[in-house]
Amino acid sequence: MAEKTNKTDEMRLLRDCADAVRRRTDFTPRVALVLGSGLGGFADELRKTAEIPYEELPGFPRSTAPGHAGRLVLGYVEDVPVAVLQGRVHLYEGYSPAEVVRPVRLLAMLGAKIFFATNAAGGMRPELGAGELMMLTDHVSCFVPNPLRGENLDELGTRFPDMTEVYDAGLREILQSAAEKNGIELRRGVYVQLPGPSFETPAEIRMLAALGADAVGMSTVVEAVAARHAGLRVCAVSMIANLAAGLSPAPLSAEEVLAAANAAAPRFKALLWDSIARMKEDE
Ligand code: HPA
Repeated sequence: MAEKTNKTDEMRLLRDCADAVRRRTDFTPRVALVLGSGLGGFADELRKTAEIPYEELPGFPRSTAPGHAGRLVLGYVEDVPVAVLQGRVHLYEGYSPAEVVRPVRLLAMLGAKIFFATNAAGGMRPELGAGELMMLTDHVSCFVPNPLRGENLDELGTRFPDMTEVYDAGLREILQSAAEKNGIELRRGVYVQLPGPSFETPAEIRMLAALGADAVGMSTVVEAVAARHAGLRVCAVSMIANLAAGLSPAPLSAEEVLAAANAAAPRFKALLWDSIARMKEDE
């Protein structure tokens, strides 16, 4: 993980990716959405204008995680232009932090103003059981490299970006009202990213709770940091797939995570649709 990101190479790759998209379409997304485990189907609900497999984007990482397709889908949620990363890449797949955040940066370069992250997570409070939806109010990065490490990409953002309010208050209000409209109880909490891929031990979960976290997962924080660096407004929702290790007698498994994600998908999709539809220019 200590590799030095070469700024020139990274910007060149990002520009090559942007050019590859631009050869296909002049679509300018407003919202950049990354779909977590089990949510890939949401991309099919868009009024699509283009679909670009990650293989066609130079230097673009390929998703190997279960339930992640590996496609950039461009289209509309009502009249809001959205770029969907159908399938995300994780640090645990062996990608460098710069590779993990390359898709988010590309969408910023294509004109996105809002980054909306979704993920599956383990709940660390008794009321955060399988199937709950939790809106992120803040995050903690734990043993995960900062994606901005290395020479700063000045074209995208400043060297020392502020992280006082990563998860935008206005977007949180939109999410809350979309949840109310759908009769969804939207929990709130702090998400902690660990590197994975092993799940946590019960002792680690006690440590993370002491650090102030409510839910634990293996994504999102590095992406949110890169998105803030690039000046995007950010919001994120976790689908709680399980109680974290030690909080229930059951062992954790990827199958359980996907099953919970699939079960929660209809509610999650309704929340996504109605909140994104409200993320118009003037809000
Ligand atoms: N820990 C980390 N990541 C996860 C979990 C968990 O318990 N559940 C789903 N993703």
